[in-house]
Amino acid sequence: MQHKLKKTALVCSRLFSSFQASQPTVIRASFLHFTADPAKTENVSHAYQYIEDGLMVIENGKVTSLKTFNEKDAAIYSKIVDKRGKLIVPGFIDTHIHYPQTQMIASYGEQLLEWLTTYTFPTEEQFADKKHAQKISKFFVNELLKNGTTSALVFGTVHPQSVDALFEETSKKNMRIIAGKVMMDRNAPDDLLDTAQSSYDESKQLIEKWHNKGRSQYAITPRFAPTSTPEQLQLAGKLKAEYPDVYVQTHLSENKNEIEWVKSLFPEREGYFDVYDHYGLTGKKSIFAHSIHLTDDEWKAFANTDSVISFCPTSNLFLGSGLFDLETAEKNNVRVGLGTDVGAGTSFSQLQSLNEAYKIMQLQGKQLSVFKGLYLATLGGAESLSLDDKIGNFEEGKEADFVVMDWAATDLQALRQSYSTTLEDKLFALMMLGDDRNVESTYVAGKLVYSK
Ligand code: GUN
Ligand code: ZN
Repeated sequence: MQHKLKKTALVCSRLFSSFQASQPTVIRASFLHFTADPAKTENVSHAYQYIEDGLMVIENGKVTSLKTFNEKDAAIYSKIVDKRGKLIVPGFIDTHIHYPQTQMIASYGEQLLEWLTTYTFPTEEQFADKKHAQKISKFFVNELLKNGTTSALVFGTVHPQSVDALFEETSKKNMRIIAGKVMMDRNAPDDLLDTAQSSYDESKQLIEKWHNKGRSQYAITPRFAPTSTPEQLQLAGKLKAEYPDVYVQTHLSENKNEIEWVKSLFPEREGYFDVYDHYGLTGKKSIFAHSIHLTDDEWKAFANTDSVISFCPTSNLFLGSGLFDLETAEKNNVRVGLGTDVGAGTSFSQLQSLNEAYKIMQLQGKQLSVFKGLYLATLGGAESLSLDDKIGNFEEGKEADFVVMDWAATDLQALRQSYSTTLEDKLFALMMLGDDRNVESTYVAGKLVYSK
């Protein structure tokens, strides 16, 4: 009898928890998301969907529906999270960021190569200590979420434990994160050097440990051509051939002195892009940060290899690197994502990245519409990381990563919004004036992970 009762209680509690697991999360708010690149649709209104009063339903971490609110549909749900007056957009995607540089953001006065030796390398040396890596990982993850960024492509340091520390933290929040250990076997302080062989071995171990474990994915990460010997690049290419599904991330053509240096280190190659191409490091899942000073041949090579660019506006202005040519990328059908590049970048906020992207276009006599901008920060980022089947918008079946935004977070923003009448203008003011103060809350796979 006792035994039978126990069994019945167990069955009931299992039934109850499976009932709980399938309980949908239902949210009412205004929604904006993209279904295409606004630069590639004849009419920009075909690139996005805006629902002033919408209802989104999420089950098991995925979007099951997004519709205009109506009382009849809503009545079947026992609980609706009421976010009327707020704007919900897909979680921002940061396609280039260095988590170990969080503590050195805004370091004064240098351009790329001097900035690396003066500030970056001494900072990255501290990540030999796993405890330090854990402390900064925790801070970093919170900062991403606070800024509405739910996915990122992240550099660690040369130390494999820096990558362990990061993935341990991001998997606690179930975030879709791609990261890798820096490979660097020359032209850096001794403490920060690996060898061609050790970088291959350690990267391989990290791939086996983390790639496609939950929402974590791995990126083979040679820092940039000047800090790798040809032997290291060759082994990085071998690793990519062995694991074609993993990503490659590195830097390319950011600074004119850097480009001259690469030419002197690899005189046998046709140019900077060709160095990576020669070693099998280009392609659909290869993301090249910056790519500012490309030649015509390099643009063609980008298109031919379907390689990807991460446009990092705040960094490009902060280091005085140059003005990225977004229009030529569009003309060549080269995929572009948006990166903060913290700590050369000066903000974790992708709204701030777009603010500076707009000015970079202005300095070239061009514009960046708010629709193109918000597309780059969401669906465009997902496409650039070949993740658009999983994240980037609210199509049915996508993973429910999203941000609840306040239209105005300051008196000035409120005044500006009160004199705004069109959606485009309201969004533009949000893009130019907004930052982490506008993020009310952030959800990852349907779960609340940050609240202001
Ligand atoms: N090029 C090589 N390393 C780095 C880095 O850490 N930051 C930036 N912005 N460029 C680089
Ligand atoms: Zn970088």
